[in-house]
Amino acid sequence: MKKQKRFYLTEKEMPERWYNVQADMPNPLKPALHPGTKQPAGPQDFAPLFPMELIKQEVTTERWIQIPDPVRDIYTLWRPTPLVRAFELEKALGTPARIYYKYEGVSPTGSHKPNTAVPQAYYNKMEGVEHIATETGAGQWGSSLAFACQHFGIKCTVFMVKVSFEQKPYRKNLMEIFGAKVIASPSTQTDAGKKILANDPSCTGSLGIAISEAVEVAAKDPGTRYSLGSVLNHVLLHQTIIGLEAEQQFLLAEDEPDILIGAFGGGSNFAGFTFPFLRHKIAGKKMRVIASEPAACPTLTRGKFAYDFGDTVGLTPLVAMHTLGHNFVPSAIHAGGLRYHGAAPLVSQLLVDNLIEAVAYKQNECFASAMLFAKNEGIVPAPEAGHVIHAAVVEALKCKESGESKVIAFNLCGHGHFDMSAYQAYMAGGLKDFELSDKELQENLAALPGV
Ligand SMILES: Cc1ncc(COP(=O)(O)O)c(C=O)c1O
Repeated sequence: MKKQKRFYLTEKEMPERWYNVQADMPNPLKPALHPGTKQPAGPQDFAPLFPMELIKQEVTTERWIQIPDPVRDIYTLWRPTPLVRAFELEKALGTPARIYYKYEGVSPTGSHKPNTAVPQAYYNKMEGVEHIATETGAGQWGSSLAFACQHFGIKCTVFMVKVSFEQKPYRKNLMEIFGAKVIASPSTQTDAGKKILANDPSCTGSLGIAISEAVEVAAKDPGTRYSLGSVLNHVLLHQTIIGLEAEQQFLLAEDEPDILIGAFGGGSNFAGFTFPFLRHKIAGKKMRVIASEPAACPTLTRGKFAYDFGDTVGLTPLVAMHTLGHNFVPSAIHAGGLRYHGAAPLVSQLLVDNLIEAVAYKQNECFASAMLFAKNEGIVPAPEAGHVIHAAVVEALKCKESGESKVIAFNLCGHGHFDMSAYQAYMAGGLKDFELSDKELQENLAALPGV
């Protein structure tokens, strides 16, 4: 038999702590600013939106944070997830590279998102919160939070970006199975939604708009809190369970990654997979860490590092991040989870410090690589994951040219079982490639709040 393909940990070997990169970053994050005063925001400014325990996790510089036992118990529904050597993909590409993927599609909702939905719902429950409002792009986050909320007996309302609401009706059904209320965004249920619709009645929505709606609902009701599926420090922290498991699994494989890659939307799966390895890079070890984003929404590769709002209407604190401008509404690509104007401040700072790299690809080339992966490895990836697979294929083909047998590791952040209409359109040759024009980019950047 050929060499081992899948590397598993037992439930007992699942990490007991999350890793906080803030402990090891060469330069600290710039402080978040209050949207009105433009002064550094304190814990009380976030209190209407988040439970205090998550606010503490947002700012702590402690290296290791204990994972509560009730959270670890729910994690065992799907964790630890497998690390898999992609022998069949290697063969199909004819590359001397060794390719591994960590597979997060085995979770109850088919992606990495429950890794943070569960602890977020748990900390809200501990502080007596009865209702959580959130946004969702592709529906991966909304269904994950719905799953976590029903587990802890919390009501959940999800503002779903309208284009995904229409493209992915089954994701909506999944959220409803878990008891959530799902509203297409922009909606007429909030002032933020009404304002957007007044300007553009046919607006297809964006994550930034849906965030404005969910934040407004939470800010207006003392029994409701808001929850975000990406971008924030505590979200990235919870996702580090992915990379911490992978680190142990690479020991089992007796191999070490030279190149680590993640798909990039707001930054959570990329960070969760790569940050535990990045701490060794910060300590001097040689490796490349690459974020792969859509050319239609090129936040890291073409955005500006500046203070901007996390939402479209300007209700959130201002954070220093790479941004395309909070008014930017990305084209309706099928990787709905990657259509966000901003980036996680932690990822942005690490990019500024040259510890990570970023690349951008168009959707047709990503679907081509996703199809190649599906045919050879047997898993149909989420369109978001197509971006990481394509970046891995590009690196593997470089190895083919140079003859180097590098170890390429990527995070297969989700399966695409709810995305068949996207594959159908791709196979019928009907997908359009979008690339942001310089003119549109400059127009959106001109609206940045000068701080
Ligand atoms: C499968 C999948 N991958 C990636 C992302 C992008 O989010 P993030 O960058 O926070 O991992 C999403 C977001 O919805 C997603 O559903």
